[in-house]
Amino acid sequence: MSKKIGIIGCGTIGKEICRALLSGQVNASLCGVADAMPESLRKATEDFSREFGVTIPVLSTEELIKAADLVVEATSKAAAPAIVEIALAHGRDIILLSAGALLEAYESLSARAAEAGCRIYVPSGALGGLDAVKGAMSGEVYSVTLTTTKPPKGLAGVPYLESKGIDVLALREATEVFAGTAREAVPLFPANINVAAALSMAGVGPDKTLVRIVADPACTRNTHEVRIEGSFGVFTSKCENLPAPFNPRTSTMASFSTIALLRRLTSSLQIGS
Ligand SMILES: NC(=O)c1ccc[n+]([C@@H]2O[C@H](COP(=O)([O-])OP(=O)(O)OC[C@H]3O[C@@H](n4cnc5c(N)ncnc54)[C@H](O)[C@@H]3O)[C@@H](O)[C@H]2O)c1
Repeated sequence: MSKKIGIIGCGTIGKEICRALLSGQVNASLCGVADAMPESLRKATEDFSREFGVTIPVLSTEELIKAADLVVEATSKAAAPAIVEIALAHGRDIILLSAGALLEAYESLSARAAEAGCRIYVPSGALGGLDAVKGAMSGEVYSVTLTTTKPPKGLAGVPYLESKGIDVLALREATEVFAGTAREAVPLFPANINVAAALSMAGVGPDKTLVRIVADPACTRNTHEVRIEGSFGVFTSKCENLPAPFNPRTSTMASFSTIALLRRLTSSLQIGS
């Protein structure tokens, strides 16, 4: 029987994943959706009904977790910890888009998931090359650096930048607005830098993963460059992501990579590490 997938957070990413499930891109069924905003959820389910001719059950977060074999969290860094707790309490597998929410507790949550007999998945999201990062970890890793370059509107309104007096929308040239560790970056940029959390957890951890964030008025894509040096050699990757049409902070690749993860989890052929 195909896996039942529940989507919590039916915004930019959640809706794309619903569409992928409803259009048969994944060998799994959509068993329901949950969202904190009933009005936008109603509109989304009406759109799905028109597009695909199906009625999607709207459930509370807990009802949905109980009904699903696997839930996809696509809400926010603030909302995600409570959702993970409910998934663990019911022993349900969860894919976590708000990867930054996991960063301070990923080792203990991983141990609790093992006790509960379930799994926590973090998709590669808007980042390329996590397979190489994981491979590199089998040997010695000397350094991991993430350089994220975004159009200023993808960083507008970040309280940390405002507190530093940086008006990203007024910048006329590419400007480094942050340099530090992933542990420092993730709380300061909660909606912009989930990739730093995913990279840290796949590799050398949040204190040794270095992050640079650049606001560039000439750039139209959310670009993530990873460089790893280790006993295997040197690896670099660069992902130039188009922002999602209605949310400049989110890259289209975040949805695509989650759909790919769902396909992997429901496929009997596994390619890549
Ligand atoms: N891992 C990655 O590479 C990556 C990339 C982009 C975005 N993200 C993260 O994924 C998450 C979703 O991103 P998005 O662009 O779809 O955001 P979005 O703002 O478009 O949608 C979020 C949805 O979640 C709903 N929501 C908020 N709190 C909720 C709660 N407690 N319960 C149920 N629903 C709730 C909102 O009403 C909204 O509909 C964010 O945390 C974002 O930072 C991760």
